[in-house]
Amino acid sequence: MTKALTDQLVWITGGSSGIGEQLAYACSSAGARLVLSARNAAALERVRASCQDPSRVLLIPMDLTSTESIQLAASRVLAEAGPPDVLIHNGGRSQRSRALSSPLALDRELMEVNYFGPVALTKLVVPEMLRNGGGLLVVMSSLAGKWGFYERSAYAAAKHALHGFFETLRLENEDAGLRVSMVTPGFIATDISRHAADATGQPTGEMDANQARGMPPEVCARIILRRALAGDEEFAVGGKELIALWIHRYFPRLFGRLIRRQSPRGRSSVNP
Ligand SMILES: NC(=O)c1ccc[n+]([C@@H]2O[C@H](COP(=O)([O-])OP(=O)(O)OC[C@H]3O[C@@H](n4cnc5c(N)ncnc54)[C@H](OP(=O)(O)O)[C@@H]3O)[C@@H](O)[C@H]2O)c1
Repeated sequence: MTKALTDQLVWITGGSSGIGEQLAYACSSAGARLVLSARNAAALERVRASCQDPSRVLLIPMDLTSTESIQLAASRVLAEAGPPDVLIHNGGRSQRSRALSSPLALDRELMEVNYFGPVALTKLVVPEMLRNGGGLLVVMSSLAGKWGFYERSAYAAAKHALHGFFETLRLENEDAGLRVSMVTPGFIATDISRHAADATGQPTGEMDANQARGMPPEVCARIILRRALAGDEEFAVGGKELIALWIHRYFPRLFGRLIRRQSPRGRSSVNP
């Protein structure tokens, strides 16, 4: 991994916390130059200060729900650092509200941050990556990108949509040197459930049981980098909950019974 990332430029969205923060530390330790983006500038500063070589970390604040912010961030990165060798679409927001209790504005916000934001950034940056000879996109999906789940209607829709867009992008551009790794994490011990939107769009502030007992994000980050750099086109990362992927594929009726026994906020084994 160190050899593959030495002096490579890696742009990580959602670099201010959780998995993105740990990806930043792992890439920095492996000798990469970094661009970190998210909305919280103070949190980005904290992450930069903890990287192996903060002088090789460029902070570019960006709001994935704002086209103008994405355009500004892309033009700054291309001007100040050049096209990235690796772009990690990690920024995202989950949901804890039922479909019919959630206003359409919330569906749109979650589609912006989890789907249209990464797509907009891709359209601005990947052409420059291709002119530079190609590169690697790492796209953070979820188990919710594989099936719907209680209180995840818009989040699951957005994560499903990522597969459609980025799998197509891979086919259309692989001959030009573009590689795409789709990642489906299970339960990773971050604050994602605290940051998730309730029906009013506010953060729930609550830690779900599944995240609390999930895989440490630093372990998750190392696995993601190892497998993406090895060329895996799609892989899951997490604990025993990943068996649900096999049940879903090979025993759909059993999956249907099991998923109905789960709780939206935890205690379950297949809650994304
Ligand atoms: N943890 C899990 O169990 C799990 C499972 C499946 C998939 N995932 C996926 O993994 C990725 C990282 O999640 P995490 O677990 O590390 O959660 P997290 O700690 O909540 O991190 C989310 C990151 O996304 C950024 N973000 C949120 N809204 C944004 C916006 N509007 N514009 C720009 N950046 C925004 C946040 O930064 P700011 O708030 O500073 O903007 C933060 O850096 C997400 O795509 C998530 O869907 C996580």
